Amino acid sequence: MTMWVFGYGSLVWNPGFEAQDRVIASLPGYHRSFCMRSIHHRGTDENPGLVLALDEAPGAVCHGVALSVPPEKAPEVLEYLRERELISSAYLEKVLEIDLADGRRVEAVTYVIDADHVQYCGGLDLEEQAGIIARAVGGRGPNTEYLFNTADHLDQLGIMDRDLDWLVRRVRHLAG
Ligand code: SIN
Repeated sequence: MTMWVFGYGSLVWNPGFEAQDRVIASLPGYHRSFCMRSIHHRGTDENPGLVLALDEAPGAVCHGVALSVPPEKAPEVLEYLRERELISSAYLEKVLEIDLADGRRVEAVTYVIDADHVQYCGGLDLEEQAGIIARAVGGRGPNTEYLFNTADHLDQLGIMDRDLDWLVRRVRHLAG
């Protein structure tokens, strides 16, 4: 069976695997925000950064991309994703129903936040988020790059996220 992966953050611009198909998609009941402290990829233990994650939020919809993987490639892609996304246990892997832009509804592997995890930081105000993102650097590079790349790519796909747009402006200003 084809495996679908729902991307809403770095998977939008750097999936790290070859997708057979890439389709705009939406996930009902979840909200994207910088609600996870990053101590590996975009920050360190001493100076954590922030990465995007999904919080359950009745009535919300998260817009992103659905990436399809042919059955024969699914095990290796899943292994890759688990190594990348579950490096700390703050993300939970779920299979959730998403709506593709062409009207299909499919199940997709999706990484959502574990709100009980110590790295969970939902509810930080945007000014505080901007200050953290402007400074943090992790194993994959500056936190600013994560924000700018995600915002740029969502923009190119016609997906609007007001909080991300505000953060881009504020972080550009703070980071000079
Ligand atoms: C995603 O992009 O869907 C997962 C979160 C991330 O790696 O940024």
